[in-house]
Formats: sequence, C-alpha cells, structure tokens
Amino acid sequence: MNRFFPDAGRLYSAEFAADPHGVYQVLRAQHGTVAPVEIAPGIGAHLVLGYRAALEVLDDRSGNWSKDPRPWQATLPDTPAARGLMGMIGWRPNVLFSDGAAHRRYRQVVTDCLAMVPPYRLRALVMEICDALIREFAVTGSADLVDQYAQQIPLRLFNRLFGRPDQDSAELIAALKGLLNATPETGEAANAAFGQYMSDLLHSKYQEPGQDLTSWIIQHPAALTPDEGLHTVILLLGAAFEPLLNLIVNAIARVVSDPRYHASLSDGALTTYDALQEVLRDDPSMANYGPYFVLQPTDFHGTWIRPAELVLVSYAAANTEPAAGLDHQGERSDSGAHLGFGAGPHRCPAADPALLIAGAAIDRILTLLPGMRLAAEPGALTWRPGPFHRALSALPVTFRPIRPDQPGDNPWNSRTNSTPSDATSQEKPRPCAHAATS
Ligand code: HEM
Repeated sequence: MNRFFPDAGRLYSAEFAADPHGVYQVLRAQHGTVAPVEIAPGIGAHLVLGYRAALEVLDDRSGNWSKDPRPWQATLPDTPAARGLMGMIGWRPNVLFSDGAAHRRYRQVVTDCLAMVPPYRLRALVMEICDALIREFAVTGSADLVDQYAQQIPLRLFNRLFGRPDQDSAELIAALKGLLNATPETGEAANAAFGQYMSDLLHSKYQEPGQDLTSWIIQHPAALTPDEGLHTVILLLGAAFEPLLNLIVNAIARVVSDPRYHASLSDGALTTYDALQEVLRDDPSMANYGPYFVLQPTDFHGTWIRPAELVLVSYAAANTEPAAGLDHQGERSDSGAHLGFGAGPHRCPAADPALLIAGAAIDRILTLLPGMRLAAEPGALTWRPGPFHRALSALPVTFRPIRPDQPGDNPWNSRTNSTPSDATSQEKPRPCAHAATS
C-alpha cells in the first residue's frame, strides 16, 4: 500500500479535521474521482470523491463490490495503528460486514426488531431523556452540548431500548467514553469494560427475556447464534452512537449560528428538518465511513484497484461534489438525494428513527432554551480528528437560565415527564411475528 504515499491526504490529521472540504477539493484537483489517502500512519485507502462513482459502489449492480474486510485485514502490519482501526473496520459476524444471503439474514433481524419500537414511543422516550438532561444544566445558563447533552442521548436511549435500567447507563457511558478517549495504554482496558457490559447484557436477556431490542434480536426467527446476537447488539449501539451524536451537534451548531434559522422562529423560513438534511448533505456524521472492497482487480474511474485494498466512500465529498448538483445555498435543502445515510443494500436501516430522534432532541432544547447562542465564534469551534467522522469536540452555548419554579414549559413541569418509563414495554406484538425472509 506504500505506493499511495507520500502525497496522500492524511485523514487522521488535525488539518483534515479543521478543513475536510478543502482537502477534498485538493484531492479532487490532484487525482480526480478516486484519491489515495492515509487513514492511519502507514495505512492507505482509496477515497471515492465523486457522487456517481459513490453510487456505483453503494448500489453495486456488477457483483464486484464486497463489504467483507478480512482479505484486507490479512495484509495489515501488526502495529498499534492497524489494531486501532479494527474497532471500526475489523470483521465481525454482522450486517455491516456481510454480503448477499448472509447480509439479508442479518438485515432482516435489524429491520424487524427496529420496526417493533413504535415512533410515538421512541419520540416520548427521547423527550423524557432530553428533559432529564436539560434539567441538569438549565439553571446554570451555559453548557457544552456535546458532553452534557448530545453524547448522553443515544447512550441513555439505547440502554433503555436494550432493556437495561437507567442506573446502568452510567456504566455504559463510562465504558464507551473510555473507548472514545482510549490511548494505547488504556485502550485494552476500555475495550474489555465495554465487551463485559455488552456480554452481561446478552447473558441477562438469555436468562430473562423482556420486551426490548436485545430480547427481540435473540428471539428472532433467523435464529442468530449467541455470537451473532452479541455482534448485532454491539453494532446497533456503535452504529447509533457516533452518527446520532454528530448529527444532533452539527445541526444545533448550524441552527444557532446561521441567521436563516433564527428567522424561522418568526417567519417560518428554515426548520430543524432542513438543518438535519443540510448537515447530512454537507457534514454527514460518518463523513467517510463507507468501507468497500473489490472481488476482482478493477479499473475504477481511472484508478487500478486490487482485491484486499480498502476503498472508502466519502459521503461528504460525494454530496458536495459540484457535479452532483446538490448545493442549494439559501434554499430549502434537497431532502432526497444526499448520501448521508448511504445508499443501496447497506443504506442505513435506521434513517427514519435517526431523523426522529435527532429532530426531537433539537426541537426540545430549542423550545426549552430559546435564544440559545454559541459561546464561541463559529470559526473557533474545533473538530475531533479521525478519518471517518465529522464531529465537533465541544459545542459551548449560553442561554437565559430557567428554574424549577418558572411558569410555562420547562423540564420540571413538562408533560413528557409522565411518559411511561419503559417505552418499549407496552402492547407489543409477538416478537418478530413476521418470519425472516432472505
Ligand atoms: C444519525 C444518523 C445516522 C447516520 C448519518 C447513519 C449513517 C449510516 C450510513 C452512511 C450507513 C451505510 C454504511 C455503509 O454503506 O457501509 C449506515 C448503515 C447502518 N446504520 Fe446508520 N446512521 C445513523 C443512525 C443509525 C442508527 C440510530 C442506527 C441503529 C439504531 C443505525 C444502524 C445502522 C446499521 C445497522 C447499518 C448497517 C446496515 C447494513 O450494512 O445493511 N444507524 N448508517
């Protein structure tokens, strides 16, 4: 893979995090539709920058593209950099890393089980979690919405959907934060703590199933093995956590710093939905996280790609390629055509619930803390380095403090506080009554 260097874009660098679109532009000018990049020191990949080319990979009709990373993994050196990538691109028996019939079997489990959470219950649960979080900082007049709000929402939510009591969410948050902030010294312990949490979860649901996602996955007619069940639950959490966190934060940052959204409060211009679609188009949460591999050596838009080489679809670059024609500055965003949720057979199966969750989380905080402002210049916000995501490190805001005795809608008297605490627990159909098809 060394043939890619030395001029490759270093996607793990702070420079890339600070200006990814500038880097895409340079790569496009230098290499065209497919560019050589480094995703960790010494580890190369082909980055797909073009919209049409991205669709050719994602919605593959040739049968030449695969999601199975094992041949690529076999080529990697045994270095900390390579091991560090395994959390994101290491093969596991799950929907993300499989093709064909195996993919359809896993995918049926995911879609059937997600469909068992009714949208109105999901929304009520998100509102309840948001109110509880806002209550923790509402009287202070300032907050970091990454740490104190958006990061906590998917974790508390999925802890509940997986059927664990709220008090366990602190354990999950600690385990996942450990993973996020892992250094070579702490990484192994963090991984072990997270693995322990997840296998305890599966074990408890095999012993005592309930009305929750974990139990529905275990009981699905596709009959996943315990290992497949464990990896499906882990994937759902991983696939939900970082994308939701980033979508919520990136959209709030846009709403509070862009006058087109301030106007919306009084004259109905741009809405939260527009902000979500704009973020999914321009700064999608998983900006470059579309790992694919060819089965046969292929000339792809002028780049020779061999099996066991990593190809990353850049949703962010593809969406913003001028030729894609998705740039509608100043107008309502084009909701349908962006690739922020991927496309083709591996398109995000949770796009609708994800929009519902993010939309509810944003609307709730804007309603309770009207007039919220960025506590820093937009240009001073910093982005967390990493080859795959588009993630603000912090989102400091200020607002007029609200207090428990304040009249009107506030997190202490909100009607959503009366939401049943187990939002997945009532009037359930029998788990996955509709049999799995392949
Ligand atoms: C918040 C926004 C989200 C975004 C932007 C997002 C984005 C994506 C993208 C781009 C893919 C395609 C990956 C590929 O082609 O390799 C994907 C796949 C997937 N997403 Fe999401 N996602 C989001 C939320 C969620 C949530 C909440 C869940 C779970 C509840 C989820 C579960 C999955 C799963 C299981 C896959 C793999 C599907 C397959 O391989 O067939 N995502 N997501």
